[in-house]
Amino acid sequence: MEKFIINGGETLSGKVKVSGAKNSALKLIAASIMADSKTTLKNIPKIEDVYTMIEVIKTLGARVHMDSEKNILEIDPSSINSYEAPYELVRKMRASVLVAGPLLSKFGRVKLAIPGGCNIGSRGIDMHLKGFEDMGAENIIEHGYIHCRVKGRKSGSRLAGSTINLDFPSRGATENIMMAASLAVGKTIINNAAREPEIVDLANFLISMGVEIEGKGTDCITIYGAKKLCGVEYNVMPDSIEAGTFIAAASLCGRKVEVENAVWKNLEIFCLKLKEIGIDVSSTDENTVVVNASDNQLKPVYISTLPYPGFPTDLQPIIVVLLSIVPGISIVTENVFENRFMYVDELNRMGANIKIDGHHAVIKGTKKLSGAPVRAFDLRAGAAMVLAGLAAEGITEVSDIYHIRRGYEDFEGKLSSIGADIKIAKG
Ligand code: EPU
Repeated sequence: MEKFIINGGETLSGKVKVSGAKNSALKLIAASIMADSKTTLKNIPKIEDVYTMIEVIKTLGARVHMDSEKNILEIDPSSINSYEAPYELVRKMRASVLVAGPLLSKFGRVKLAIPGGCNIGSRGIDMHLKGFEDMGAENIIEHGYIHCRVKGRKSGSRLAGSTINLDFPSRGATENIMMAASLAVGKTIINNAAREPEIVDLANFLISMGVEIEGKGTDCITIYGAKKLCGVEYNVMPDSIEAGTFIAAASLCGRKVEVENAVWKNLEIFCLKLKEIGIDVSSTDENTVVVNASDNQLKPVYISTLPYPGFPTDLQPIIVVLLSIVPGISIVTENVFENRFMYVDELNRMGANIKIDGHHAVIKGTKKLSGAPVRAFDLRAGAAMVLAGLAAEGITEVSDIYHIRRGYEDFEGKLSSIGADIKIAKG
């Protein structure tokens, strides 16, 4: 087991470049299995979740080649001969359920292990399944698996376009239904759809494969199913959450840090909150965010996480670390996941003063954090612990860093390149 050893208090400065977006790449890999020919994905992040998704589609029979030097992934789906997302892989990564829409759309069937809860809360897939049913699939649950088939199907029959009203703008459900609709017969309308930039990236990818889509980036998406889809060459968009993590690191301990491939419009609400706190953050162009040192008096804020364009839940633990050293009382409300404050006890062990009341965190700013051994509870909480360590006095050891490896490419290398004192140790 590896852990990070961080010697806190170093000033960060220089340039750091953001990788491709995890939460787009995973969906593009899943969608590529619907094509009749090879797809090439560029700017693929080298992270554990991508490797797991590669495992998933290889299990289905796809042929895959990863050029790690160039961050390019080639996927040949023509040899797919299995329709099962097995428990070992779904358990390892919930996003494995995103092969369900593509398999159902192309082959009319899928056998999907039912994902359990995870460290940030119970995460159902009821809206995904209801969407498939509305399009003419039947779902039979047996022995921990969902067997999903196009109802009364003869070989080769397809899903039928439908109008689907989501109870909540779930990203996963929106994506799975968009993909299921891509080879369905006729028109599918998704009302109350998720609007995240990664949904737009998936829509653009599907459009390039041959699907007609209207309303991407709005809460009403219309998909006109195609007869067949072709493989394409596509660039994965940059990762806003990784960008937000470096922007927060710079805000905590920066002189001047330039974050490249940080798309301002995707990070606007986060950066506006930082400005409200008193951080000097701005954009030099639409893809570069700069944090400058300043003597501004930092002020507490109120934050509520919400689906896009609201404040992203994935940056909640990251901003809580910053607020833990901002004088006064800040309140952060988590509205997306029921269990996303698990890491707070670890942060309190570093000297933060945070109380959890239901889905609210009441944060009383402390003067300084002090280094301590802490655990990474999940991916973003783990990154938050690293940021806490960078800002703290003394040594912080962050264990269970495999969580961080799921979503950050060379996290320690990138942080070191802007002056952080962070090393890997075994044990
Ligand atoms: N939900 C249901 N039923 C459903 C679908 C969702 O109850 O059928 C609930 C979930 O339990 C949750 C809420 O709806 O409380 C939001 O879930 P959503 O489907 O929007 O999230 P997701 O697709 O499972 C993605 C990201 C998460 C990110 C959330 C919210 C991927 C692979 N994951 O999850 O990313 O937090 O959207 O923005 O895209 C991360 O990167 O660290 C991460 C957790």
